[in-house]
Amino acid sequence: MKTAQALCILVVSALVGFVAPSAFADDIDELVEARQDNFKILGKNAKSLRKAFGGGEPDWRAIGASVAKMQQANTKVLDFFPPESAETFITTEAKPDIWDDFDDFTARQNTLTERLDAFAQAVARKDASASAKAFRSVGKACKNCHDKYKEE
Ligand code: HEC
Repeated sequence: MKTAQALCILVVSALVGFVAPSAFADDIDELVEARQDNFKILGKNAKSLRKAFGGGEPDWRAIGASVAKMQQANTKVLDFFPPESAETFITTEAKPDIWDDFDDFTARQNTLTERLDAFAQAVARKDASASAKAFRSVGKACKNCHDKYKEE
């Protein structure tokens, strides 16, 4: 009985020792998955917007809703890139250069924020040509970061 108890304690302490660091790694993996899901929201809404400006009378309600979802997702982007998230077991397209020059990465993110704001303003005015133009410059801000910091 004594031996069984001792063994039990040994096993438990070994487990605790093992679980603690891996729980931390799990948190990072979850964060990276949440980061990718957040980008998927940007991608999905950008796709509907491409269609929305594809011709005909724009559906301003739908467009406004998509822009709002993009703005909402965009506010979270930088929080998903803590330095620890450079190491993950999740397949990621994030290049390590992000953390070598986080100021530049942040600047590219801020450009997107500004362009989304300008886009939202043009949409609020229901100005079709200004909105389509602003949407194209939003797309360029996505590409401007992906070209440098996202694997193909
Ligand atoms: C400041 C940099 C930056 C900006 C701006 C940016 N992205 Fe990304 N994006 C990334 C990085 C880095 C990844 C890779 C994330 C990963 O795999 O962990 C990514 C991944 C993605 C993905 C793939 C998600 C997946 O895993 O399936 C999509 C879709 C995407 N971005 C869309 C967009 C759109 C649309 C915009 C513009 C509205 C945008 N991104 C703006 C850096 C950026």
